[in-house]
Amino acid sequence: MCGIFAYTGKGKKDAGKVLLDGLLSLEYRGYDSAGIFTPESGAVKTPGAVKELRKKVSKDFSGKSGIAHLRWATHGEPTAKNAHPHSDCGGELWLVHNGIIENFKELKEKLAKLGHTFRSDSDTEVLAHLVEEYLGKTRDFEKAALKALNDVRGTYGIALQYKGEPDKLIAARMGSPIVIGLGNGEHFIASDPSPILPHTKKVVFLEDGEVAVLTPQKHVIRKLDSSQVRRNATEIEWSAEQAQKGGYEHFMLKEIMEGPEVIENTLRGRLLPSKGDVKLGGLESVAKKLAKIERIIIVACGTAYYAGLVGEYMLEEHAGIPVEVELGSEFRYRHPVLNERTAVLAISQSGETLDTLEAVREGKRRGALTLGIVNTVGSTIARETDAGVYNHAGPEIGVASTKAFVSQLTALALLTIFLGRQRGMSPKEGKRIARELAALPKKLQAILDRHGDIEKLAKQYGFARDFLYLGRRYNLPVAFEGALKLKEISYVHAEGCGAGEMKHGPIAMIDERFPTVALAPMDSMYEKMISNIHEIKARRGPVIVVATEGDKEVGKLVEDVLYVPKTIEMLEPILNVVPLQLFAYYFARAKGLNVDRPRNLAKSVTVE
Ligand code: G6P
Repeated sequence: MCGIFAYTGKGKKDAGKVLLDGLLSLEYRGYDSAGIFTPESGAVKTPGAVKELRKKVSKDFSGKSGIAHLRWATHGEPTAKNAHPHSDCGGELWLVHNGIIENFKELKEKLAKLGHTFRSDSDTEVLAHLVEEYLGKTRDFEKAALKALNDVRGTYGIALQYKGEPDKLIAARMGSPIVIGLGNGEHFIASDPSPILPHTKKVVFLEDGEVAVLTPQKHVIRKLDSSQVRRNATEIEWSAEQAQKGGYEHFMLKEIMEGPEVIENTLRGRLLPSKGDVKLGGLESVAKKLAKIERIIIVACGTAYYAGLVGEYMLEEHAGIPVEVELGSEFRYRHPVLNERTAVLAISQSGETLDTLEAVREGKRRGALTLGIVNTVGSTIARETDAGVYNHAGPEIGVASTKAFVSQLTALALLTIFLGRQRGMSPKEGKRIARELAALPKKLQAILDRHGDIEKLAKQYGFARDFLYLGRRYNLPVAFEGALKLKEISYVHAEGCGAGEMKHGPIAMIDERFPTVALAPMDSMYEKMISNIHEIKARRGPVIVVATEGDKEVGKLVEDVLYVPKTIEMLEPILNVVPLQLFAYYFARAKGLNVDRPRNLAKSVTVE
């Protein structure tokens, strides 16, 4: 989330041009608002992305050094006021930031008492004022920055500039990536190497808790305790084009690979493992109303709809609330019977899907409480719902949704604990779910590490023109989503089906050229799934099984098994979907298709 880029070169190149060009390759990281600062030309900020910023920047905007930012909003609406760079009271210190300053409220109060005035709702601005405060005391830019960073809790990747020493840039990293580009008589700071690559391939990656001080000629890296760090430069092998995708060939693959980080970001600051509860700030204002809700209707489209189906199982089983899941496009025309004891919950990555938005409006008209699980901060659905939970999954560029699904399921699990604890879920049960949620990132990483096996398997099945995906209970929506992923990007027919329903039709299609992907983890549905797999084998259908690690039996039954680590049943979809996403990716890839831009599809569907 958020992209930062900074340059110092004593006039070797024009900072204005370098920064605006560089921001383009960071656009995937955020496009809510953009901003740029050079000591010579000052700051320009705007809602929107680089195109809008270019329009706003005057022709003579220039500089010998400067900082720039693309925002993916978290705190504060995506307005010009909240766009970065942020500055101190005197407009002397300028800062771009990627991350969240968790103790910003407490710092803001302290600084306000000391006479600082704030211009934005952003957590970032607080840091600029904090450095200003210390600069007043120490009269030393570097010391002031180090002191301020020692007071901050949370995550950050930052670039900081002081008008009093315009050639000097300070970068720091805690949880959010920072790369330093080492040029000849010039230095760069960026969130990833892509904007640096047109200038130099020599980079240094900062590690958490490190601060770099850069001038055109020199770079020094220190730890937060000010001790010096020696780090050798790395030579980047990617081309500038590839680097936009962080070295991956496609955004889709990059986004699948981000899964563990996405789960962490969705959970961050929300799990209260010792209490077996969660803290969902976005629901606090309606917590009392939620305690009285008797029914939830989930509305969504596409992948988000399948996330909703998983949510139905989670919420009914563990929170004891009746749930229905509706396609946005159907709900609005159905004349649904709702009242104030009904909550309409919209799930949407973009927050702009028209049918989902209209379903929310229909819910509102009929007196329901409206909620959102939305990834894009400040989007229409986020604004129009009464309350909600943000995914914090970062921008999703690949048209086929992958990491958003993982994050939607994670948010639904948090919501299940929240509503469950309001309705008699025991602390013990809350703790059990919270513990399993916290363990997911590592388990997901183990699946991703085996991507090579999945690639091989996908190539092996390149002959097939049709696929059947089977699952039961929590894994039925995963079967639907697996089939959707495959058809979206490979244009091969795939059908998701409840394994129990298979005998009512789909089994008629099975022969040796019609493969089935079966989700058969070792859970309450295991034996029934195994019987269904036998039925397909008996008709000579090839079968790929997604199974639990350590399940020796399934390996005797079929040749192709994708193993996933064990978790509790309600969280299985978060892990099980990932091998299916990778399978679809490699299957389409082997056909030479552009998986990031599948034909006829759009990332955000804003028409009916
Ligand atoms: C489009 C996208 C899908 C997405 C769906 C819903 O069809 O291609 O990937 O799942 O819209 O989008 P939303 O932004 O509301 O989650």
